[in-house]
Amino acid sequence: MQIRQTNQGFNFDKYSTFEKDIDPKQRAWIEVKGKAIETNVRQLRSKLSKNCQFMAVVKADGYGHDAKVVSDYAIKGGASQLGVATLKEGIRLRSSGVKKPILILGNLYTKRDLIISLKNNLMPTISSLRECLICNNIGKHFGLKFSLHLKVDTGMSRLGFEFNKFVEQFEKIKSFENISIEGIYSHLSSADEPNSLDPKSITQLQRYKFHQLLKQINFESNCGIKIHLANSAGMLLNKDFHFNMVRVGLSMYGYSPLAKIDKNLSLKPALFLKVKVAFIRIIDQGVRVSYGGKFVSSRETKLAVLSIGYADGVPRNLSGKINVIHNNQLYPQVGSITMDQMMVDITCSNEIKVGSTMILLGSDGDKTISPVDWAKESNTIPWEILCSFKNRLPRVKVD
Ligand SMILES: Cc1ncc(COP(=O)(O)O)c(C=O)c1O
Repeated sequence: MQIRQTNQGFNFDKYSTFEKDIDPKQRAWIEVKGKAIETNVRQLRSKLSKNCQFMAVVKADGYGHDAKVVSDYAIKGGASQLGVATLKEGIRLRSSGVKKPILILGNLYTKRDLIISLKNNLMPTISSLRECLICNNIGKHFGLKFSLHLKVDTGMSRLGFEFNKFVEQFEKIKSFENISIEGIYSHLSSADEPNSLDPKSITQLQRYKFHQLLKQINFESNCGIKIHLANSAGMLLNKDFHFNMVRVGLSMYGYSPLAKIDKNLSLKPALFLKVKVAFIRIIDQGVRVSYGGKFVSSRETKLAVLSIGYADGVPRNLSGKINVIHNNQLYPQVGSITMDQMMVDITCSNEIKVGSTMILLGSDGDKTISPVDWAKESNTIPWEILCSFKNRLPRVKVD
C-alpha cells in the first residue's frame, strides 16, 4: 500500500503487520498466576503421606490455563507426574521440554497411536487385553518394555478393564515380557457428592472394590507400581483414597470441588479473566439493550461495552446474571451477552473510561468472582467453565 507521510506525529513504519506483535492485553485475556499453581500444589501435597506422589492433571490445555505454564509451576510445587487427555496434548508438552512422566488419560487403540505415544515417552492408559497385546507386540518389535498404566472400571462405566474380569486378565498380562506396568488405577464418579463419606455411598463402594482388587492380585505396596484412584474430591475426602498417587486437577487450579473443605487449606485461584472497555455510551430511560431487547433501562444509564462474548467462552446463558469488577466495585452485566461483546451498567462510576480494564473472573480488594459462581448461575460445573475459554483469549503468565 502506498502511504503518504504527513508531519503530524504519526510514524507508519513503527506499526507492525504481524499478529504476534498485537498487545495480548489489547482486548480480553486470561492471566495465569503461576505462583498460585505452585503454592496450591505445595499445600495439597502437604496433605499426602511421604510416599504418595502428586500427578498434576493438565488436560484440556491445563483446564484452560495453558498446559505448559501449569506444568512448569506444578512441577516447581512438587508434582512428579502429569496427566493429559490426548496424544497431541502429551506431544505438545514433550516438545516444549517437559521431562516428567506423562500419562495419557484418554484411550489409544490403534498400533500407530500407541507407537507414537511410545516414541514420545508418553504412557498410555490401557483398558483391554487387546490394547495390552498391541503394546506388548510393539515392545517386542522394538526390543524394549512399553511403559503403561492399567485402568479398571470400579463404577464410572467409562474407560477401564471390566472389574469382574480384571483379576483373570491380569494373570495373562503379568506374563507379557515387553510391557512395564507403571500404574494401576481407577476413577471416582461421585466423590464430590455430599454423602461421599457415608459407608454406603458410591464413592466408598468404588474404593472398596479397588482395594479388593489390589488384594486379589496380591499387590505389594513396595513394588514401585503407582496405585491411584483419587481426583481432587477424592484426595480432599481423606487419606483412604490416596494410595501412592493422586491425580489432581480442579483444586490445583484453586477451587474446591467439595462444599466443606479443610480450614487449613487456602487454595488460590490461578486464573483471572480480564477485559478492556471498548466503548462507553449513555442511554435514556426505557431504552432496550442488546439482542432481543429484553433488558430495558429503568433510568438514564451509562453502559460500558466490553470486548468479550460467548465466542471467547463466556456462556451466553449468564446474560444478566453476572457482575464485573473494577476497582473493588461490582458492576452488573446487562442485556444478552453477544458473540464478541457484552454491556455493563457503569452508571455509578466516574472513573471507568474507554481502555479501562475490568475483571470478569478473579478478585480485586475484597471482591471475588469465581468459575464456581458462574457454574452455579449457568447450571453447569466449574470444570466446564474453565475448559470453555477459547484460543482467542491470549493466556498471559504472571508471577
Ligand atoms: C481420569 C481423571 N483423573 C483425574 C482427573 C482430575 O479431576 P479433578 O479436576 O476433579 O481433580 C480427571 C478430570 O476429569 C480425570 O478424568
